[in-house]
Amino acid sequence: MAQAVKGTRDLFGNEMKWFQRIEDTARRVCSRHGYEEIRTPILEEIEVFKRSVGESSDIVNKEMYEFMDKGGRHVVMRPENTAGVVRAMIQHKLLVNNDPRLLYYIGPMFRYERMQAGRYRQFWQIGAESFGVASPESEAENLMMLFAFLRELGLKHLNLSINSVGTPECRPAFHKAIREFFQAREERFCEDCHRRIEANPLRVLDCKVPGCQAALAGHPVITDYLDEASRQHHARLKELLTALGIPFEENPRLVRGLDYYTRTAFEVLSSDLGAQSALVGGGRYDGLVKHLGGPEVPAFGWAIGLDRLAILMQQLHGEAPLNPPALLIPLGEAASLKALTLAQDWWDQGLAIQLETRGVNLKKALTSANRQGTRFALILGDSELEKGVVAARNLGAGTQEEWPLEEVPARLRN
Ligand code: HAM
Repeated sequence: MAQAVKGTRDLFGNEMKWFQRIEDTARRVCSRHGYEEIRTPILEEIEVFKRSVGESSDIVNKEMYEFMDKGGRHVVMRPENTAGVVRAMIQHKLLVNNDPRLLYYIGPMFRYERMQAGRYRQFWQIGAESFGVASPESEAENLMMLFAFLRELGLKHLNLSINSVGTPECRPAFHKAIREFFQAREERFCEDCHRRIEANPLRVLDCKVPGCQAALAGHPVITDYLDEASRQHHARLKELLTALGIPFEENPRLVRGLDYYTRTAFEVLSSDLGAQSALVGGGRYDGLVKHLGGPEVPAFGWAIGLDRLAILMQQLHGEAPLNPPALLIPLGEAASLKALTLAQDWWDQGLAIQLETRGVNLKKALTSANRQGTRFALILGDSELEKGVVAARNLGAGTQEEWPLEEVPARLRN
C-alpha cells in the first residue's frame, strides 16, 4: 500500500484543527496590524534562493528539493518564503514609491532534512515581512505583532534571543578575525566546518556538532565589530523592547542559517519543544531587495513553524475543541424531512450542527456520535415531532432533556 513520502504527512483530525485555529488567529492578528496576505508559488527558479539564502548555507547546499522541469528550467520547491516574496515584490513593482509594505503569508515549505520530532521535509510556515522602513521602531512593531499572536494562542515559556550581525561593510573585519580564530584550532572542527571556515565562517557558529560547539569557546563576537550606526540601531531596539515589556536575551552567537540578514537577527525558542526548540526565526535584510534586482528597500520579518506551534498547542490545550458540537438524528421518514428544513434554518443562523442522513437506528447513530466526540445528540422521533421538541442527549454526561425547537439555537450557543 502506498504511504505518504518520507518527511511529509497528511493533516487531519486534531492536528488539522490546531492548524486551522492557528491560521485563523494569525490572519486576525496580522490584518489588525495592517499586514496583507500574499501567496507566492511553491516553485521558484533556483537562482532566487542561491542569491538570497546563500550558496554556502545548509539550506541551499544540502536541503533543496530541486529538479529540471519538462521545459529544462532548474526549479526548487521553496525552502522558505522570504526570497519568493521579495522576488514577487520586485516583479510586480510593488516597492517603487517608497511606501511601506506589510505582508504576511501562510504555506508549505520544503527542506530535505534529517527527520526528527517537529522536523519535517514538508512543513508549514506563517511569516510576516515589513518592507520600506529601516528603523528599530519598525522592528519593534513587527515583533509586537508576533508576540500578540503568540499571546492569543496562550503560549508561554518562550525566549526571544537577539543579536546584531552588522552590515556588509563591517562584516569583513569580523570575518577575518573569526576565520583566524578558527584556523588556529582547525583540527578541532568537523569536516563541514572546514568548508565553512573558507566559504562563510559565520556558519561555523551554527554548527550543531558538540565538538565544534566546544571549540568555539572564547571566539570573537560580532557585536565588538559593529559600525557606529549598527551599534546605535541595536541599542535602540533593546531600549524599545525593554520599554514594551518584551523580554529578550542577547546571544552573540546567533547568526541564523540564511545569508541575507543585516543588523538585527533573532529567534524565539520554546523550552517545551525539546531538541527542535526554534519556533520563530527572523531579522532584518536590508540588502536583499536590491541584490535580487529591485530598488534599495530595507526590510524586516520573521517566520514561525506552524507544525511546531501545533505541537505546543496540543501540549498546552490537549484536544482541539470538536466541531460541530451537535448531531441531529431524525427517526423515520417524516422526521427526516423536518430535520433537513430545521438544519437549514439553524445553519442559516450560523449554528454548527451535523445531520445524520443514513437513516440508521438510534443506537447506531449514537455510537457514531460518541466515537466522534459529539457533545449533543438531538433526537427527533415521531413523539418529538408532535410536541415540537427534540430530545437533547448530553453524550458526555449521559443526561437527556427536551428542548423546544425554537430554543435549540440559544441552548447550543451556551
Ligand atoms: P528559518 O529559521 O529557516 O527562517 O525558519 C523559521 C521557522 O520555520 C523555524 O524556526 C521553524 O519553526 C520552522 N522550520 C524550519 N525548518 C523546519 C522543518 N524542517 N520542519 C518543521 N519546521 C521547520 C526562515 O525561513 C526565514 N525565511 C525567516 C524570515 C522571514 N526572516 C526574515 N523574514
